[in-house]
Amino acid sequence: MIDRVAEIADLVTVALDELLPRADGPESRLTEAMRYAALGPGKRLRPFFALEAANLFDIEERPVLRAACALECVHAYSLVHDDLPCMDDDDVRRGRPTVHRAYDEATAVLAGDALQTAAFDILLHEDTHDDPAVRCELAARLSLASGARGMAGGQMIDLLGVRDDLGGVARMQRLKTGALFTYAFEIPLIIAGAREVHRQALTSFAHDIGLAYQIVDDLLDVEGDEDILGKAANKDAARGKTNFVTLLGVDQARHRVAHLADQARGHLDLFGPDAEILKASVDFVLKRQS
Ligand code: IPE
Ligand code: IPE
Ligand code: MG
Ligand code: MG
Ligand code: MG
Repeated sequence: MIDRVAEIADLVTVALDELLPRADGPESRLTEAMRYAALGPGKRLRPFFALEAANLFDIEERPVLRAACALECVHAYSLVHDDLPCMDDDDVRRGRPTVHRAYDEATAVLAGDALQTAAFDILLHEDTHDDPAVRCELAARLSLASGARGMAGGQMIDLLGVRDDLGGVARMQRLKTGALFTYAFEIPLIIAGAREVHRQALTSFAHDIGLAYQIVDDLLDVEGDEDILGKAANKDAARGKTNFVTLLGVDQARHRVAHLADQARGHLDLFGPDAEILKASVDFVLKRQS
């Protein structure tokens, strides 16, 4: 299980290194900042889910890997902007200075912008898939998952704060984290032209695992070790953030994660033994310390 996660992380880092632009002129500062953000030691969890879910279908790896790299570019961009002083104001990410600390704020804004467009450049390139309709569908779904009705919309709600309302927090989490998690599973579903029953199962799995993942992130903010986490802890409550942990407390939030984990595994039953690694990944992902 851990070997499989590490193997996919390496595969994705090598592919991203090839796909991300390099430049010689003054814009090399921008391409270096993009590479610093995207090639740093991330867990590559969203690509792991895309590639592992692809094993449930009879499809080639190359298109899935390219689309997973595009997703990781959007994720990296979201982290660069999330860390900016005008957002969460964080100095450490993945155990290193955040992009605006290593470079400067303007470069971090531009690196986020250009990582986002790089994602669509990768998806729409003919190497991603022979069928232009598949490439368009991959791009259209990523734009929905990242935009005002997806990650960016969720980040807006996070910054505005949600008051004592569990439904509101669940919606915020679904947008800010869940949408990109769901896209990880949409990649193989789109490429395979999957049947509705498989689509439903993987989308439900994605919803539960995405929500559980963000609750674990919020728990780690309270209980985690900064050195292992590679980012600051104990910041959410101090910043006035509302999430499941601030609303329910640690014990109930943990209980909710366990419930979501059971529910997530249940959605995979119809795939039989083929989904064993995905099922095992639920515990791996939720027991993480970083
Ligand atoms: C951090 O994401 C932001 C959240 C949505 C919780 P990850 O925990 O996947 O971060 P990396 O990519 O491994 O650094
Ligand atoms: C960020 O959530 C989610 C994104 C869309 C980037 P957090 O603000 O909780 O992520 P961390 O804790 O900084 O990684
Ligand atoms: Mg944030
Ligand atoms: Mg943050
Ligand atoms: Mg967090």
